[in-house]
Amino acid sequence: MKCARNPKIQAFTRMGFVLSLCGSAIGLGNIWKFPTMMASSGGSSFLLVYLVCLCLIGIPVLVFEMILGNTTQMTPRAYFKHTRILKIFRHLPALNNTLILSFYAVISGWILLALLLSVQKALTGQETLNYHLMVNYPWSLGLAGLLFVAITATICQRGIRDGIEKLNVIVLPMLMVIILGLVAYCFGHGFLSLGFDYMFGARNVSLSVGLVSAALGHAFFTLSLGTGVVWTYGHFLAKERHKPVASGIQNGLIIAGADTAFALLIGLIIFSVLLGTHMNAAGGPDLIFRVLPVVFSKIPLGSVIEIVFFVLVFVCALTSSVSMFEVMRHTRTVRETIRLGLLTWALSILTVVSLNTPSTITVFGATPFVHFDTITTRVLMPLFGILVFGTAIIRGVLAIKARRPLKTPHASSSPL
Ligand code: PHE
Repeated sequence: MKCARNPKIQAFTRMGFVLSLCGSAIGLGNIWKFPTMMASSGGSSFLLVYLVCLCLIGIPVLVFEMILGNTTQMTPRAYFKHTRILKIFRHLPALNNTLILSFYAVISGWILLALLLSVQKALTGQETLNYHLMVNYPWSLGLAGLLFVAITATICQRGIRDGIEKLNVIVLPMLMVIILGLVAYCFGHGFLSLGFDYMFGARNVSLSVGLVSAALGHAFFTLSLGTGVVWTYGHFLAKERHKPVASGIQNGLIIAGADTAFALLIGLIIFSVLLGTHMNAAGGPDLIFRVLPVVFSKIPLGSVIEIVFFVLVFVCALTSSVSMFEVMRHTRTVRETIRLGLLTWALSILTVVSLNTPSTITVFGATPFVHFDTITTRVLMPLFGILVFGTAIIRGVLAIKARRPLKTPHASSSPL
């Protein structure tokens, strides 16, 4: 069954476009990567380096990618396919997104299980299984990953306007309400100043290459750059005929601003409740699945806050995963959707066995999960970012030349 690309049904509205890119940017990267990196890499000094990377590299690449998608009205794959030198890179976006989604789906599936278990605990008052123990049950992690991929694929299959845009338009305002509610909760319980000091208090950290590359890598990951997401979404927006550069800059600033504000607020909430309950800061899955459950059991209204928190994390993960899945597709057929979903799930098994505590598998000294994360954020994303940068500059120069042909002295003085 083929779903033809009807521009009226498939194209984003302008507001839906900006919200969907905000949804793609706001994800697990904000919830566990950013606060942990900030706390472990020197609080305010990391923030400063990150903001510089964001302004000097992140936002320009974001704007370029958006303009390229919108002005060419082609996906990156179609564009590269028609460009002789870039042809070999045409599968890079799909490859990059498949690798990222394969580990993203496992963690997101785990969050879905945590949400279900926390609802069950709130209703029955009993804890049947603590969700941090899920790593001991690889089958449940694998099936949760499959469920998450299936939800992602179903939303994408509904199309841009009815699937992706609708999801983002509904859940982003909900996210804002949840996050402000959680900030108010921390403030009301007197935790907020502790989190604030921890995150923004100056620490003795010297500027190093490691710090800069971590901040730059995070700017790419959190803005969903270097994966073709921004380019692909840009091509689903009707062509901007009036001031495409100005509107690209305006949208880029809104998206980067919303993403950074969200990361700072979620960091503030996490560290406020951690320090308010005298817990040590942890990072990655450890923070969400091991430390936070203990925190929730200690704070007032903990079981409600726990459910609200997991709804927030799940929704953030979903708005990001749909953007990755959309880039992986070449057609909109049901058969291709199922094939890609199963491929992602098959790859995600490598992440399941990376997290499985009794028998974690390692290859060349690290788990497949760590390799996937490193290859995508350190190699494939920057590579695609360089291609975007180069393509945008060349197209920009050609466009300027085409509009204003250089006057030669002969042109004005010739009597002919
Ligand atoms: N930006 C998302 C996050 O912060 C992750 C992501 C990466 C989404 C690449 C799409 C593409 O979690």
